[in-house]
Amino acid sequence: MPRIFKPVDIDKEDRESRKDYFDRHTPRIICDDTAQTGKKFRVKVVVGNRYQHPDDHDHYIHYVQLWNRETFLAEAHFTSGTLGNQAGQIEVDFYIVPGEVSMNLCAMAACTKHGLWQSEEKEVKVK
Ligand SMILES: [Fe+2]
Repeated sequence: MPRIFKPVDIDKEDRESRKDYFDRHTPRIICDDTAQTGKKFRVKVVVGNRYQHPDDHDHYIHYVQLWNRETFLAEAHFTSGTLGNQAGQIEVDFYIVPGEVSMNLCAMAACTKHGLWQSEEKEVKVK
């Protein structure tokens, strides 16, 4: 079982190198707070916020997953060179159709060198 890194309050970290390390691996979910039953709903996932992750041949973000509670929803795979072999932020839009009264979304990002990283949870009300 891989170690899963969970969101930390990066602003509380003293060392800049540690802020960078956590920030550039942590996926963020960007979507509306409400969705409509049976209608396509866009969920954007961006890996990193203020910092950028490398895109080297042996060190890159390999995949991003989207979960609703314990249910796996979607996955996007990447290879080295996706970002032109320059540091950057992997970004992907998932389109899902909600069928419940609420969702509790979570994203995971896998780095080829630094393991599995979890986003903060995002609650979405479904009307
Ligand atoms: Fe990494």
